Amino acid sequence: MPEAKPESHPRHVAIIMDGNGRWAQRRGLARIEGHEAGVENVKRIVEAAREQDLRYLTLYAFSVENWKRPTTEVNALMQLLDQFLSSQSEEMIQKEIRLRVIGQLGKLPGRIRNKIQKTIDATAHFDRWNLTLALNYGSRTEILDAVKAYAQEIAKGREKPRQLDWEQFSQYLYTTDLPDPDLVIRTSGEHRVSNFLLLQSAYAEYYFADECWPDFGKEAFAEALKAYACRQRRFGLTGEQILSQSS
Ligand code: FPP
Repeated sequence: MPEAKPESHPRHVAIIMDGNGRWAQRRGLARIEGHEAGVENVKRIVEAAREQDLRYLTLYAFSVENWKRPTTEVNALMQLLDQFLSSQSEEMIQKEIRLRVIGQLGKLPGRIRNKIQKTIDATAHFDRWNLTLALNYGSRTEILDAVKAYAQEIAKGREKPRQLDWEQFSQYLYTTDLPDPDLVIRTSGEHRVSNFLLLQSAYAEYYFADECWPDFGKEAFAEALKAYACRQRRFGLTGEQILSQSS
């Protein structure tokens, strides 16, 4: 079981960046313009995370289900991702931010995979700031991938199911070298988790913001962190036990 932590500052924040389409529609703009505004906000929040001394930030940028959107929107999202990687790779190196990606990368266009890999390699030695993009990500797919990889290890005699515990199994998840998220934020007033980090968020705090993602700026982000600081995380213990641990 994770240790009950009294710290009021999250180490890892994961965000479901929802509402780009509605943000655009409310302004009479095309959906893609909402995604463009969304990318600008990604840059703001990456900066805010550093300013707030948040070590791990994970952003849900494209789900396994998002392929079912109209082709023009999918292509535009891929184009934005491509541009983001081109413009931000140098920035990440300069700011010493380590990039990771979780999801099935194989289905992304080759040019994007190459840029991702180059940035991952160029930033792999940084450890203070960590940005993870969830791309072609879905928790159920992740769990199935983990089970398949684990079953192969059993077949090779390298794993023994009777000895399996959570610590061991979690090493087969895409997030193997990431701490669990402490705080999961979803923007745009929707109260769903949409197949995002389901197992890793077992003990996370959730925060639902009314702003659509392009409007969820630094101040709104600071509000979310303030709300987190007021929560008491119990990890199955009683409130009294937690208080006595932290005194
Ligand atoms: C949800 O809004 C958002 C997405 C499906 C994509 C998120 C993508 C970005 C913020 C831009 C690309 C990211 C990077 C890192 C380059 P929605 O379209 O579902 O909004 P709606 O629910 O209002 O329609």
